[in-house]
Formats: sequence, C-alpha cells, structure tokens
Amino acid sequence: MSKEQAGGSAPSSLIDRIKASIQAESSDEKSRVQSRRRMVGLLTAGFLTTNFLMFLRFFFPRTIFEPRTVFRVGTPAEFGIGVDTRFQKSNRIWVVRTTDRMFVIYASCTHLGCTPDWKSGEGKFKCPCHGSGYDPEGRNYEGPAPRPMDRAKVEIDPEGRIVVDTSILYREEKGKSTQFDDPGSFIQV
Ligand code: FES
Repeated sequence: MSKEQAGGSAPSSLIDRIKASIQAESSDEKSRVQSRRRMVGLLTAGFLTTNFLMFLRFFFPRTIFEPRTVFRVGTPAEFGIGVDTRFQKSNRIWVVRTTDRMFVIYASCTHLGCTPDWKSGEGKFKCPCHGSGYDPEGRNYEGPAPRPMDRAKVEIDPEGRIVVDTSILYREEKGKSTQFDDPGSFIQV
C-alpha cells in the first residue's frame, strides 16, 4: 500500500464514522418521535373511547329493580287471625286478618319511612329508627310517628286469591279522616 493510499483512507474512515454516528443519532431521534406519537395516539384513543362510552350511556336509562307492586298472596283461608309476616321481606307488607276483615299494611313507618319489626311477643310493631310503636292493626300509639301505617289496595281475583297492589295506598290522618273503610282498602271475610 502506498503512503498516499494510507493517508487518504484515514480521513475517509473518520468521515464514515461521523456519518454513521449522525445516522445512529437520527435513527434514535426517529424512534423517540415514533414512540411519542404512539403514546399520544394511545392517549387520544383512550380519551375518545371514554367519551364515546359516556355518550352511549346517555341513551340507556338507569334501571332500578324494585319488587313488583301487584302480586298475589294466596286465598283468605290461608291466613289465620293476626299478623302474617311472610311477605315482609319480599314485598314489604304484612297481611292482617281480624274477625271480619283482611287488609294489608304497607311496612313503612309514617315518621321517616323505616321498616318496623313485628314483635309477636309484645303484640305490636316497633320501629327500630326512633321507637314509634303501632298496634297489630298498624295504628300508632307511641313515638314520633304522626299517623297509622298505610294500607295497600286488596281485592279477590276470579280464582279466589288475594291480589295486593302497593302502588295504591289508603291512609288515615289520626283523629281527622280515614280511608281505611274505603272499598279496596280491605276484604270482608
Ligand atoms: S322512622 Fe320510624 S320512628 Fe322514625
């Protein structure tokens, strides 16, 4: 190899190295830009998806599942005299039978709407919230409750079963007026 060739190859390899280094740097920069773009793309997609889902949610009503308001509880013969608590949990009612009537008490304290407990040993309904007490027919006699518990509409269907409708309630304003003798508020037995 001549001296000229040796002297000429040194600068060219330096230039090559510089070029290579510039290329490497520019490819690093490219990949940084690409990953930044990917990140921005992902964030944008997430943002748009969230907004789209919120937009869709707008068209679907929130559904609250509540027990049916109209239901059958059996025939009058299936109830003895007194308070029957079988439907308290499922339908929030008590079926009450006296010597000549059957009616259904809607199990909601007239003070602030808590569900009282039937205390069979004491023969009364007792509200756990603020202590209101009601007699076996749901009439208040102690505590802050302002009036008796409401009664639900009852009727007998063609098969002889009792149909209860808790969307229709009968109320009594203590010492003023009563709907407890209205047709639909009780069944004659
Ligand atoms: S809610 Fe029953 S006493 Fe207050």
